[in-house]
Amino acid sequence: MTGRELAASLKQNLRLPVMAGPMFIASTADLVIAQCRAGIIGSMPALNPRSTEALDDDVARIRECVGNAPYAINLVAHKSNSRLEADLDVVLRNKVPIVVLALAANPDLVRTLQANGSLVFQDVVKDRHARKCAEMGVDGIIAVGAGAGGHTGDTSPFALMQEIREWWDGLLLLAGAIANGRSVLAAEVLGADFAYIGSPFLASTEANTQVGFKRMIVEGMSKDIVVTNSFTGVNANFLRPSLLEHGLDPDNLAKRVGGGINIDGGGDNAKAWKEIWSAGQGIGAVKRAEPAGDYIDWLVADYTAARRAIGL
Ligand SMILES: Cc1cc2nc3c(=O)[nH]c(=O)nc-3n(C[C@H](O)[C@H](O)[C@H](O)COP(=O)(O)O)c2cc1C
Repeated sequence: MTGRELAASLKQNLRLPVMAGPMFIASTADLVIAQCRAGIIGSMPALNPRSTEALDDDVARIRECVGNAPYAINLVAHKSNSRLEADLDVVLRNKVPIVVLALAANPDLVRTLQANGSLVFQDVVKDRHARKCAEMGVDGIIAVGAGAGGHTGDTSPFALMQEIREWWDGLLLLAGAIANGRSVLAAEVLGADFAYIGSPFLASTEANTQVGFKRMIVEGMSKDIVVTNSFTGVNANFLRPSLLEHGLDPDNLAKRVGGGINIDGGGDNAKAWKEIWSAGQGIGAVKRAEPAGDYIDWLVADYTAARRAIGL
């Protein structure tokens, strides 16, 4: 199947060319179900349910509720993830339609998943990473530009999309501060098949986020987002008010030199993600904490208006 055919087949029953980005701690099975029911591709990290057994239960419930709609599970393919083998077994047994790989994915893992019927997507922040993913044979590349929630890129989406689309005709998703209908349309104009959206869902009713976190998303704007590598060794965007609440000076965070990436915020970074909250620069578009389906309904209307505004 060509990239165009794959994009068309995935979009067939969706209301919008949008996939939800999986979010550590925040994404729940209820959120995935709400996202899929509202007409986008839902997703969550395998590590969010507290055990492999709980993941198995969640995936079974998602399957039951969403039928044939595509959804994704995010696997951290790194040796530090002690659950990888058991969680992978759950993903394979349930024939999860899309698997988003993070960190140190290898061609064998990609092949195993594909042979079992899953599509494999991988996120990248540079053209160079995208080329490596293409060599590994992934089905979809998620280009993470500047301003994204969680671990972010620092390249303008204009440059990133231009460079990757020059040689990649496969499925391409664009992430980073996309939160309204105009931005979804803009992602398509730049050459993306899908917009990949995370942070707005932090304010949704179904997200496992505290009331204060939801409030920061609703009240926050791009000026409230700070990029730092001080928690995980890799650049990530955090909410300025959340840093201040923990007595940290957002303008003087220690820059980490060397050291490995620590995706789950364990060890000396235990507070990152759990207590020091991450979000991307697009949150200005989020006006209320509400069910994910209501936000998606608004996004559909805003996208339709954006298309109309330019005569489409
Ligand atoms: C709080 C938070 C946690 C995240 N955790 C993960 C994760 O566990 N795995 C992953 O692949 N991406 C993770 N991401 C990144 C998202 O999947 C997505 O790429 C990003 O949110 C897109 O940018 P946006 O937030 O500006 O929409 C996280 C993002 C946020 C905001």
